[in-house]
Parts: sequence; C-alpha cells; structure tokens
Amino acid sequence: MRALVTGGAGFIGSNLVGALVDAGGDVVVLDDLSTGFAENIAGAATVVEGEVSDPDAVARAVAGCEIVFHLAAHRAVLRSVEQPLETDRANVGGTLTVLVAARDAGARRVVYASSSSVYGGAEQLPTPETAPLLPRSPYAVSKLAGEHYCRVFWELFGLETVALRYFNVYGPRQRPDSRYAAVIPLFVDALLRGVPPEVHGDGLQSRDFTFVADAVAANLRAAEAPARRCAGRAYNVAGGAAYSLLDLLAILERIIGVGVPPSFAAPRAGDVRHTQADIGAAAAELGHRPSVSFEEGLARTVEWFRARGVSR
Ligand SMILES: NC(=O)c1ccc[n+]([C@@H]2O[C@H](COP(=O)([O-])OP(=O)(O)OC[C@H]3O[C@@H](n4cnc5c(N)ncnc54)[C@H](O)[C@@H]3O)[C@@H](O)[C@H]2O)c1
Repeated sequence: MRALVTGGAGFIGSNLVGALVDAGGDVVVLDDLSTGFAENIAGAATVVEGEVSDPDAVARAVAGCEIVFHLAAHRAVLRSVEQPLETDRANVGGTLTVLVAARDAGARRVVYASSSSVYGGAEQLPTPETAPLLPRSPYAVSKLAGEHYCRVFWELFGLETVALRYFNVYGPRQRPDSRYAAVIPLFVDALLRGVPPEVHGDGLQSRDFTFVADAVAANLRAAEAPARRCAGRAYNVAGGAAYSLLDLLAILERIIGVGVPPSFAAPRAGDVRHTQADIGAAAAELGHRPSVSFEEGLARTVEWFRARGVSR
C-alpha cells in the first residue's frame, strides 16, 4: 500500500511512518520541517519538502497514494493564540488543500489528526464523542473546522474520511526543547537533569495520556475499518484513564530513580482541569483499544531520552 503521511517528520507522524514501513508500506512524507526533523525518517520514506497549504506540493506528494494520514499542523495552542492567521492557514487551509488533492488524485481514505481540544473542557467525564463541542482556542477551532471538512468531503464526494481526536500523546521523539513543549518531555528532561520540574497550578489537574504507539495503532485501524461504520466520523483516541500531574511525577521519579521536588508556578490561562476520554466508540467501530499501560509507556519514553543522551 502506498500512503502519504503529512507531518511525517514530526513526533506522531514519524512513529507512524516507522510502523507503515515495518508493515511493508511504500510511504511518502510531506513536511515543511517547521517543527519536524528529517532525521526522524531518514531513509524510510520519500520526502517532499513543502507546505500542506500549497496545492502543487500536495498534488505531487499524494499522486498514486491510496491512503492519506494527515497530521501536518501547527499543533501548539499557545502559538495559535499568538498567530491565529498562520494557524488557520496551515490547519484549516492545509486540511482543505489535502482533502481536495486526495479527492482529485483518487485516494480512497484520509485519516485526519484532530484533537481532544475540540471539547473545550467537557463537563461529562469520561467524555464521549457526542459531548458538546466548544473549542476555546484558535487551534481547537482549526481542528474542529478540519473535522467538518472531512465529514463534508465524505458526504459530498464519497472520499472516505476518519477523524481521530487525540488526547495528550506522549512517547519517543516528543521533544522538550521548544517553547511549546508538552508536559511529559518537560518533566522527564527536568528529572534526568536533576532540576525541579515546573508544575503550573496545584498539580491535581488530570489528563488522559496516550502512548504514541497506541496513537499509531489507532491510525492503522482507522485506515482499514469498514467505511460503512466509520467514514465521516470522529473518534476519541486515548489511554482511557486520567492521571494528575503529581501522579505523573511520582511514576517518573520511580522509573528514573530520583526525587526532585517540583516548583509550583501560576496556573496557565485556558488550561482545562480534567480530561478523560470515553474510548468505547473507537473500540466498537475501529477495533482499536490501547495496549500500553501508562507505566510502560513512560518507561519507554525515559529509555528514549536516555539513549539520546539527555537532553537539550
Ligand atoms: N501531540 C499531541 O498530544 C496531539 C494531541 C492532539 C492532536 N495532535 C495532532 O497530531 C498531529 C501531529 O502532532 P505532533 O505532536 O506529532 O506535532 P509535531 O509538531 O511534532 O508534528 C507536526 C509535523 O507537521 C509539520 N508541519 C507543520 N506545519 C506544516 C505545514 N504547514 N505544512 C507541512 N508540514 C507542516 C511539522 O514540521 C512537523 O513535522 C497534529 O495535527 C496535531 O494537531 C497532537
């Protein structure tokens, strides 16, 4: 199977490229290398360097591909607050450009990377896909707009689309060295260097964390599940359990074998208190269930950090 992975040089995308290549796939990557790294996919795929909002680059990349995994995006909420127009161009314009190109090239299916942020802090926990959608940042708006475009392309043009709403993905290749770094790489990096991890708020806020190999597995299922069940729909992709930031720190301290008391900072504006996904629909309709426990996923993440010789 020939597949296009947009954003394939990034954290989740490069893990997906690895899995596709291991399964014998022929993989093309379209990436502008703005937050991704060519070294993540060295030798594994044909790389087209370009932007997803550029119709010519996308048309070149998608030619002959049966499946498109669309992951390229500006993924940081804070960046979208600072640069809403750029986020819209890359995420909404980029998704529309990918859908048009996939349709015109005769691709069978597009699997779209959406986000739990479309719920905007749901009251119902665990949160099912039917919960109200109230995006609270330009990033979340852009992800929801992409979902709607996916559904409309299925309904109007018969292009099979499946949206995956990821909840806090973590694991190997997620980097700590960016202004927009996520909490797990930041905590692992701090503990390995013996400096206090910074906790915003009281640390009792909780998240449903998803190990990257499980996010990759969900993509593979979403590419193959029968269209009559899943086309035009969106699914939660998550570990299915919530851990507070203090729980997370305690587990990491055990794995790494250090204890460094955290420093507490002001809560971050716009952070939701708790997230936890209802993962029943992905199990029933995509046949996807997470298989890596939180402890195991964190141990594999720490191993990756240690192998690359800590840190910045
Ligand atoms: N990491 C998470 O917890 C998480 C949660 C929810 C949703 N997502 C979504 O998953 C996808 C992948 O996220 P990630 O964490 O791997 O981020 P990432 O930043 O590591 O990967 C994004 C990749 O897309 C590329 N890219 C960015 N803008 C582009 C553009 N305009 N044209 C071409 N390439 C572009 C980057 O260079 C990078 O390689 C994103 O769509 C993100 O919104 C991630």
